[in-house]
Amino acid sequence: MKTRSPRLVIVSARAPFVRTGSGIVRAPGGLISALLPLMRRSRGTWIATGADREACDTSELPFRVRALALPSEIRSAWYAGASNGALWPLSHGFGEVCRFRAEQARAYFEVCRAAADAAAEYALPGGVVWVHDYQLALVPALLRARRPDLTIGFFWHIPWPASDSLRVLPWASELIEGVLGADLVGLHVPRYVRAFRDALDELGIAYVNDGESIVVPRGARHTRIEAWPIGVDVDGWASLGRDETVAAEAARITADLGGGRVLLSVDRMDYAKGIVERLEAFERLLEQNAEARERVTLVQIGVPSRETVPAYRELRQRIEATVGRIQGRFGGPRRKPVHLFARTFDSTELAAYYLAADAAIVTPKRDGMNLVAFEYVATRPRPNGRLLLSTTAGAADVLTEAHLVNPYDEEGLTSAIEDVALAPETASDIARMAALQARVSQLSVETWASGFLARLEQVTEERVPVRAQETRLAASARVTRAR
Ligand code: G6P
Repeated sequence: MKTRSPRLVIVSARAPFVRTGSGIVRAPGGLISALLPLMRRSRGTWIATGADREACDTSELPFRVRALALPSEIRSAWYAGASNGALWPLSHGFGEVCRFRAEQARAYFEVCRAAADAAAEYALPGGVVWVHDYQLALVPALLRARRPDLTIGFFWHIPWPASDSLRVLPWASELIEGVLGADLVGLHVPRYVRAFRDALDELGIAYVNDGESIVVPRGARHTRIEAWPIGVDVDGWASLGRDETVAAEAARITADLGGGRVLLSVDRMDYAKGIVERLEAFERLLEQNAEARERVTLVQIGVPSRETVPAYRELRQRIEATVGRIQGRFGGPRRKPVHLFARTFDSTELAAYYLAADAAIVTPKRDGMNLVAFEYVATRPRPNGRLLLSTTAGAADVLTEAHLVNPYDEEGLTSAIEDVALAPETASDIARMAALQARVSQLSVETWASGFLARLEQVTEERVPVRAQETRLAASARVTRAR
C-alpha cells in the first residue's frame, strides 16, 4: 500500500541508531528494520526520548534523529520508574511488582510533554506522526492539543492491561485519554482490543463496536482501535536460514553440544518471559527422564535488560543461580545440560542457533506478541523443528499451529518440553511447521508498518456514522477518578 506520509515523524523511546565501538550502527529489532526504509523515503524525523544524544545528533544519518535533552533524574524516573516499574508489570499482570510513585508519574508526564513538543516542532502542516509504545502513551493527546492539523497514529506493543489491573493505576484515566488523542490505535491481537474496550467501560467512555474494531467519538473526529499483529523481516531471516556459512555454523553448534537434541530459548532477561520457570520445568524433565539427561541440551540466550530496575537485577541472579544448580545436579565433564549466554546476539549468530535447534521453547508468562517465535519459523529452510509457545503470548493467537502450553502449569510445561524434545518427528509435525511458515510469511513487519500507515490515513478520511452509546459508569471508574 502506498502512503503519502511526507516527512513522517516517529516518536519512540529507543532510537534507530546506536553508537558502538565501531561507529554508529542500526539498532537491533524488526520494528527498526521496517521503519528505516519508510523514514529514508519520507526524509522524516525520528524523535527518541531515551536515546544517547551522541548517537543521534550527527550528519552521518540518512534522516533526522532527535534525542531529547532530559535531566537524568527525569529520564530515570520515566524509564525505570513509571514505564518499567509500573506500566510494564501492570500490563503483563505482575501487580505485585508495580510501584506507583507520584514523582515518577510527574516524570512520565514531563517526558511525554517534551516528546509532544518536539513532534509538534518537526511535523509538517497536515503531516503524519506515529507514536510508539507504553513509554509514551500520553503523547497522542498532548500532541493533538498542540497541533490539531496532524494525523496521529499510536501503537501499544505490549498486552493491553486487564481492567482489574488498570484499576490500581492512579493515572489510568489520563493514560486512556492520552492514547485516545490518536486517530488510530494499534494493538497486536483482538484479545487486547477487547481489554481496551473493558477499560472504556470502566471509565464510562462511549464507543461503538465496528466489527472487531472500536470507534470512540472525540468531538469532531474519532479514534479507531484495531488489532494489527506485527511480524518479522521474513525475507531477511529466510535468507540467513539459506546461507551456507550460517548452516555450517549451525552444524558446528550441534556438534559442540554433543549431537543430541537441542532446545533453544531467546529472551530479554525479563520476569514476564518465564525464564526461571522454564529452567525449573527443564530440571524436572532431567529428574524424570534418563534419555533427556543424556541427549537434551537447553540453550538459553538471555539478553541483559533494564538492569537499573531492581526486579531485573534480582531476576538475573535467580536465572544464574538456577542454571548453576541444574549444572551441579546434572552436568558432568562432557555434558552440560544448560548453556546460558547472557549477552546480545546479532541476527547472523541467532540464525545459526535457530537452525541448530530441534525446538524453540517460547514460554513467556505473558508477552505482547513474541517475535522469537516468528524468527525461528521464518529462518528454517524446511518445515522441520517444533515451536513450543505459551498460550499467554500474543503470538499464540496468530501461530495457532504451534505446540501450545500454559506456562503456569508446572507439570504441563515439563511434559510439553519432553514432547517437543524427544517425540519422533511425524507428518503432523511437518504439516504444522509448514502452516506456521505460511502464516509467518503473510505477516512481514514491512507489510505491518506500511499497512498501519495506510490505514491511519484512511481512518482520518473516513466519516463513520458514530452513534455514541452510553456505557455503564462502573463504581471503579468513579473510584479511579476521585483521586
Ligand atoms: C519491548 C517493548 C519495547 C522496548 C523493548 C526493549 O519490546 O515493547 O518498547 O523497547 O521491549 O526494552 P528496553 O527497555 O530495553 O527499551
